[in-house]
Amino acid sequence: MPVDPSQQPYLDANLARWDESVPIHVASQGYDLEGFLRGEKSLYPLEIEEVGDVAGKTLLHLQCHFGMDTLNWARLGARVTGLDCSPAAVEAARDLAARIGVTDARFVQSDVYDAASVIDEQFDVVYTGIGAFNWLPDIRAWARVAAGFVRAGGFLYVYEAHPMWATLDDERTDQALVVTYPYFETAKPNEWTSPQSYVDGPPLTNQRTFEWNHGLGEVVTAMIDAGLRIEFVHEHRAQAWQGLPWMEAENAIPAGSMHRRREHWRLPEHQRDLVPLMYSIRASKPA
Ligand SMILES: C[S@@+](CC[C@H](N)C(=O)[O-])C[C@H]1O[C@@H](n2cnc3c(N)ncnc32)[C@H](O)[C@@H]1O
Repeated sequence: MPVDPSQQPYLDANLARWDESVPIHVASQGYDLEGFLRGEKSLYPLEIEEVGDVAGKTLLHLQCHFGMDTLNWARLGARVTGLDCSPAAVEAARDLAARIGVTDARFVQSDVYDAASVIDEQFDVVYTGIGAFNWLPDIRAWARVAAGFVRAGGFLYVYEAHPMWATLDDERTDQALVVTYPYFETAKPNEWTSPQSYVDGPPLTNQRTFEWNHGLGEVVTAMIDAGLRIEFVHEHRAQAWQGLPWMEAENAIPAGSMHRRREHWRLPEHQRDLVPLMYSIRASKPA
């Protein structure tokens, strides 16, 4: 299920950025590999609660990066498959699986839009999120891919940045919530230039990224049209990273540390009910 060929240069540029990011993320404090190796969780409590018991289930993680969250599901008892377009990410994920002794995890390298040509199987749970959708030019095509991997009676679960948050100007010093970027999916992506990854680490040479927003209605309707039944759509007042500079960390973390996995961020009290920051969706395939 290839995407529109006009999008390919953007996907190629993003892939170069991801390949370069992987060793930086593996070594970063932000991903806290040492903590994970000690047995700490990388998944958020909300995800674990909303997905429910995965023991003995098969789980496919789309856009799995270097496999930490995938392997967290494995530690919770799932038989996992991770897919990512970055060869560096897949190699690092296999290495991580070996280091923690998870022998039956499988990691596959492919663009997600071509995933059906490399994985010929359906799963009890298909999972993704936390910075996965913004790399997708076409949410409807993605939903068809994801739904195709859900077995009858299984479900898709997504915990993702809210598209309303993604519209907001994040460079303001007056802390005003100002809609600046498109809410809806656009053919032309937003272009960002940033030498720095979203966690700590040295500057990158691939500095440009191309990202798309997808309105909540577009996401939900894409899943319904792909044959899934929506069980819930939860919109959240907390975010898994500091999505605006004036957000406050919910739980105490040492100053200067960037353990993005251990904290939730919220807007100040007077803005807390104004805009959703993340959402989670569970959508099942009728048995
Ligand atoms: C921010 S990570 C999300 C994973 C996880 N939530 C995390 O925070 O580590 C995004 C991942 O999506 C992958 N990705 C981006 N575009 C993709 C595509 N078109 N097909 C497959 N993987 C893709 C990147 O290589 C990267 O590893």
